[in-house]
Amino acid sequence: MSQFLPEQILAYLPDTIQLIYLVATAFFIRGLKLLGSPATARKGNQLAAIGMLIGIVVTLFDRQIISFEWIIAGVLVGCIIGAVLAKKVAMTAMPELVAVFNGFGGGASALVAWGELSKSSDPSLLDTTGLITTGLSIFIGALTLTGSFIAFGKLKGFISGNAITFPGLNVFNIGSMISVLVLIGIFTFDPSNQTIFWVILGLSLLIGITSVIPIGGADMPVVISLLNSYSGIAASMAGFVLSNNLLIVSGALVGAAGLILTQIMCKAMNRSLTNVIFGSFAVTGEGSNSNDGDKTVRETSADDLAIQIAYASKVVIVPGYGLAVAQAQHIIKEVATKLEERGVQVKYGIHPVAGRMPGHMNVLLAEADVPYDLLYDMDQINPEFATTDVVLIIGANDVVNPMAKTSPASPIYGMPILNVDEAKRTVVFKRSLSFGYAGIDNPLFYEEKNQMFFGDAKKSLQALNEALNDI
Ligand code: TAP
Repeated sequence: MSQFLPEQILAYLPDTIQLIYLVATAFFIRGLKLLGSPATARKGNQLAAIGMLIGIVVTLFDRQIISFEWIIAGVLVGCIIGAVLAKKVAMTAMPELVAVFNGFGGGASALVAWGELSKSSDPSLLDTTGLITTGLSIFIGALTLTGSFIAFGKLKGFISGNAITFPGLNVFNIGSMISVLVLIGIFTFDPSNQTIFWVILGLSLLIGITSVIPIGGADMPVVISLLNSYSGIAASMAGFVLSNNLLIVSGALVGAAGLILTQIMCKAMNRSLTNVIFGSFAVTGEGSNSNDGDKTVRETSADDLAIQIAYASKVVIVPGYGLAVAQAQHIIKEVATKLEERGVQVKYGIHPVAGRMPGHMNVLLAEADVPYDLLYDMDQINPEFATTDVVLIIGANDVVNPMAKTSPASPIYGMPILNVDEAKRTVVFKRSLSFGYAGIDNPLFYEEKNQMFFGDAKKSLQALNEALNDI
């Protein structure tokens, strides 16, 4: 595009482009900052999108080797696929979608590096930094591609969610990673050696598969945020290959954000990253049963519960994965509004890993226009349960399971939970007594002060909403 510009402007073009890249970076950083709160997240997303648009347009002036037909075709195909996916994919399938995006991001970075390498008539003339970053971009990008698609398959159920492993797999993975790094070193001295290049690419693709396949389905969201970080690092490396500052910075931002998120999720599930990567999460088996004692549950009905909550002074709502599946976010908001109109204090307690992806519950409740100031994090709401009359637990299970505090044999032992058992009464909305994601029983269901409201969460809440009209 720059060939159409007058000489005088062309003289200043490189500096101007770098300056505009800086502006785009500022949009990304501000956007990321605003994404930190549900109240400002939409604005943050828009700012980051503006930054991306600036980045794309300016890059068209920066690089003169491109053919616009291909770019327009690529943008069109990408926009159509993106728009269809955004419309069609259910909220509960977001982790799968993110997995696919990460995979494509990693693959694109690897292709960019590969493309730059094959463009050069004599790769041995390339500088060492360029060659190292090309090798790293191909390594991280390729393993992100295959790893993300294995994660996608596990979440979708195409591949078993159980940890698939065999003796020596961890040693194989670590050995292969070290070998690839050594090969990248050799490659920088002998970049014309095609065999080394193909071995790096092949091993990297294989490592993606063999390092994700042994990780259990319950840990997949952590793996996905880690792969998200990898895709950022791969993009950053591709930025070095292309000498594109914007790509370096934006890739680094994605890499860092993914790592921070991974760490937050590990903490919320009381797992170390090493344990997620090299250990497997017990889905069933030892520690999955609460106790062999009295397993009687007490049931409640819409009419009975309506009276309890209508005359309560404080009610806390704890949403979980089942709320998302039932799409009950709008009806719970209606119930809460009715209670507030009657003078009941209503709050929402959000566990960091409630649902199936980070921020899942916040996004759902925001969709139903639940005011942000009613949403309380785990640390904020836990001290409040002791003064709560009724806790409505809607399709949540593991995040309120007291075995995390009491049963060292349980796979979720040590995971911080919402201390709902400290409230005067708990009511669990779910369809049966079946397990949650961690595959373990929940002793809360059998406690004397707990009542079960069996059924699909949306239908149960609709009945409760109607019963409240009659009080
Ligand atoms: P879960 O423990 O998975 O429990 C969800 C419950 O919802 C199930 O017991 C299910 O019971 C019920 N349910 C499903 N469909 C329903 C419907 N239509 N109506 C009513 N209830 C329904 O969910 P949670 O408490 O939100 O915990 C999240 C789990 O996911 C944790 O184990 C967490 O570690 C894991 N996880 C989450 C993340 C993130 S970032 N969110 C990341 C990694 C892992 P019924 O079948 O009996 O109805």
